[in-house]
Amino acid sequence: MTDQTIHLADYAPPSYLVDSVELAFKLHPSKTTVTSKINFSANPATKTRSLRLDGEDMTLNWAKINGKPVALNPDASGIDLPESLLGEHFTWECEVEINPEANTSLDGLYMSNGMYCTQCEAEGFRRITYYLDRPDVMSTFSVRIDSDAPVRLSNGNETGSGEGWVEWHDPWPKPSYLFALVAGDLVAHSDSFTTVSGREVALKIWVRPGDEGKCAYAMDSLKRAMKWDEDAYGREYDLDLFNIVAVDDFNMGAMENKGLNVFNASLVLASPETATDLNYERIESVIAHEYFHNWTGNRITCRDWFQLCLKEGLTVFRDQHFTKDMRDPAVKRIEDVITLRGRQFAEDAGPLSHPPRPGKYVEINNFYTATVYEKGAEVVGMLRTLVGAADYRKALDLYFERHDGQACTIEDWIKVFEDSTGRNLSQFALWYTSGGTPRVRVVSEDFDDGTLTLTLSQHTPATPDEDEKASRHIPVAVGLLYPDGSEAVATRVLELTKAEQSFRFEGLQMPPITSILRGFSAPVVLEQKQDNSLRAYLLAHDTDPFNRWQAGYDYALDILADMPAEATHIDRDFLKTMARAAQDSSLAPAFRAITLTLPGEAEIAREILASGHLPDPVAIHHARETLNKAMAAQMHASLPGLYAEMAVAGPYSPDAVSAGKRSLRSRALALISALEPECETARAQFASADNMSEKLPALGQLVAAGKAGAELEAFYRQWRQQPLVLDKWFGIQATRTAPENAVAVVRALAEHPDFNWKNPNRFRALIGAFAMGNLAGFHDQSGAGYALVADWMIKLDPANPQITARMATAFESWRQYAPARQQQMQAELERIKATPSLSRNTAEMISRILGDG
Ligand code: BES
Ligand code: ZN
Repeated sequence: MTDQTIHLADYAPPSYLVDSVELAFKLHPSKTTVTSKINFSANPATKTRSLRLDGEDMTLNWAKINGKPVALNPDASGIDLPESLLGEHFTWECEVEINPEANTSLDGLYMSNGMYCTQCEAEGFRRITYYLDRPDVMSTFSVRIDSDAPVRLSNGNETGSGEGWVEWHDPWPKPSYLFALVAGDLVAHSDSFTTVSGREVALKIWVRPGDEGKCAYAMDSLKRAMKWDEDAYGREYDLDLFNIVAVDDFNMGAMENKGLNVFNASLVLASPETATDLNYERIESVIAHEYFHNWTGNRITCRDWFQLCLKEGLTVFRDQHFTKDMRDPAVKRIEDVITLRGRQFAEDAGPLSHPPRPGKYVEINNFYTATVYEKGAEVVGMLRTLVGAADYRKALDLYFERHDGQACTIEDWIKVFEDSTGRNLSQFALWYTSGGTPRVRVVSEDFDDGTLTLTLSQHTPATPDEDEKASRHIPVAVGLLYPDGSEAVATRVLELTKAEQSFRFEGLQMPPITSILRGFSAPVVLEQKQDNSLRAYLLAHDTDPFNRWQAGYDYALDILADMPAEATHIDRDFLKTMARAAQDSSLAPAFRAITLTLPGEAEIAREILASGHLPDPVAIHHARETLNKAMAAQMHASLPGLYAEMAVAGPYSPDAVSAGKRSLRSRALALISALEPECETARAQFASADNMSEKLPALGQLVAAGKAGAELEAFYRQWRQQPLVLDKWFGIQATRTAPENAVAVVRALAEHPDFNWKNPNRFRALIGAFAMGNLAGFHDQSGAGYALVADWMIKLDPANPQITARMATAFESWRQYAPARQQQMQAELERIKATPSLSRNTAEMISRILGDG
């Protein structure tokens, strides 16, 4: 394993650059030929002239250098070119044969339901032809496709076509990871957008015939994203055509190929009957994310894959901001923080911890992580908080002006902020290069003579690759409140840079109440002793909506983390506080819904661990149900009214306000269901709902209660022809079945004729959802949950290593559990590790999780 490790410190620029690429594809399911003609020029920045081209899983038919045939012997990962033939400029030509039909890894050129499709990020292009497959090599591409498929697409603009062929040219130099080709029987949902400077852009969303009625929301999202990027970042689209294709078999969510985004169908297709509010919100944000990459990723790309968060962290930050502007910003912030803590904090607390810009990797596909994405976005957010919105915009203007057309590093990015604001950001840069979650402690709050002195300290626990952590530059947003709920001091950003530091607030009339880390201004754990009456006060009065929510959440977490197995008495004040929030019509329904949602089981587990105990996922599951039931009992008189009040009249509309009402109504339904052994309200809602946003939660309640037999059958019969809805059918059973039955149910579903395990969406809907979304089921005492997931990983690995490697993260927290469970998980990890010919992807993950060398 160690000898395959790639280090950032070893980065060297390429010996040659590419001036132009011409590709010709003759598409055939099992024998596609790809002919390439590539003009290389010596890189003036380097002295070495040896050159190796990357290439995997293909047959080389012939090759020429400067028009002369050469006999070459490729190995399993590429070809060394004979240095003596190269010179300052040379032309490389070759023909390779590849087999798209046999490509189950969904990386490179593959087939999905009869359609040809590519995925090249990060290193898939080398499975299409021999190339310098690295992001700092940028070139224009011309592509010819010979195929009788009705639709044949590539990047850029169409430059010619005839019977059985088409040609494309992309004028913008790009790295190979942004190349794309799609061909098949597709239909377009078309529209157009006029850019701020008057360019008319044709917009097309390509789907399988029959799905064209499900593209309107994605198209609307795209147009709003294009407008938003012009307004918020001054960024305009740069081609006359923007294509999006929906694909059924796709490893990821979506991909930003230049002018030809490829999407998992689940992130494009939506209709009221088949998609939930959450699906609509996700479509809006992913469409925006991939579109935003046109500037942050494509026009300015990454020098090497260590810099991945340069494009992903920034683009996630941009898509989060877009969603805030489209919907309720406080609720969006809360959702993003829940995701961050649930995934990134968990990653940072275990063996997979790494900095947003890692220093080494074995398989780059294993580094598309919550740390690179979500923490990467937080780091950009902190920069904006530190310099302010206006200076942030100035810095971004300079970034685009200075680096357009380049492949950049995190250092380039930081320098832009230093140059445009005059600040020294060297300490801030540690956020990129150092891992681990800092803990910020409120050491003291001293009030004397109208002045509050707030003392904060910071400490970052060691991570696998770094024992000693230096102090970070942490923006801590703080506000002060008076006991009557009025604001004493509006939000102010403190800059914590030392191990311990004091801050003074003067001119106060009386001792104030502190509201710290408002808006979650930094990705840290805040350690502050707060009693629950203070939390109840903040939930009622904090002027910062994030901290308002946080107070209720901490209150719940506190109760859940030390709830005895047979809890008979539950904190009445908590129940009253929650009941009040539920009824508080000054709060948006979406905010009330999220406030009434108890912390997730994984989060409770981490809280228990932090307090020095070993979490038991089964006990946590029951504690959460107990508290839910107590809340329901407290509110029972008002729940039917709330449930009725939140009904949305008229035909389904995916807008944020309607979605917010439905989400509060679903929360009310969950509470009502806790008091109804026969689930009559859920059953009635399932029967009458005309949209998936109301059908699915009702079905979820029935499944959780073990009373969904007839409804599951009806749902299956109605939707068996629609893969995205069938995924929901598998998923809801995997996540909502009571833990004691979950393993058996998932096992049985894995035998179902519709369980196409080679389809990533279906695999994730059953195995992934069980492993990550049914904590108590996965951690079943018997160890059967672990064995089930391990069995499926072993089966999937030869077909699709990327999906298998991602599944391994289900085991990342294995050391947090009691010895019996630890041993069971370790045994499964060892069993996977011992599997012959395990992929590099999965082998790296398992060895890091086990903590081997
Ligand atoms: N560039 C990625 C897609 C990608 C990921 C390619 C991993 C190769 C390997 C794309 O921009 C992306 O980030 N997609 C996300 C969704 C996004 C909204 C965070 C995804 O696919 O999950
Ligand atoms: Zn991205």
